[in-house]
Amino acid sequence: MKLNVMLAKGMLALLFVSASCAADMTARQLNQFYNNCLQCHARPDTGAPLLGDPSKWNDVLAKGERSVLINVIEGIGSMPPMGYCSSCDESDFVEMIRFMTGSSSKK
Ligand code: HEC
Repeated sequence: MKLNVMLAKGMLALLFVSASCAADMTARQLNQFYNNCLQCHARPDTGAPLLGDPSKWNDVLAKGERSVLINVIEGIGSMPPMGYCSSCDESDFVEMIRFMTGSSSKK
């Protein structure tokens, strides 16, 4: 019983952390993100930098947000243009890039 309570608390904490990290994205953007970007960015065999792997994203960030945005829109390496998200616009990508790279949009 005690273990169950502890597990439940752990799940709640996890939920809270992920909700607060994604706080800058709207529900629509989160949806687009889950349905498109995570097809690759949560799968190691695609060669895409994985969500939550800062070592990869630091290199990406070093290019500057503007160049990264252009790469997302035009495609880069084996990433297709716009990451398959035809309903995403530029401001959606900016939020997603900030979310993925862990840089805040409150600058
Ligand atoms: C079909 C797989 C795939 C999908 C879908 C995909 N990506 Fe990618 N993405 C990649 C791969 C592979 C790379 C690494 C490309 C390289 O550096 O050669 C990458 C790289 C990136 C980068 C780093 C670009 C840079 O300048 O290094 C960003 C940012 C990114 N993706 C964002 C997104 C976003 C946002 C979405 C959803 C709208 C998305 N990706 C959907 C495969 C994908």
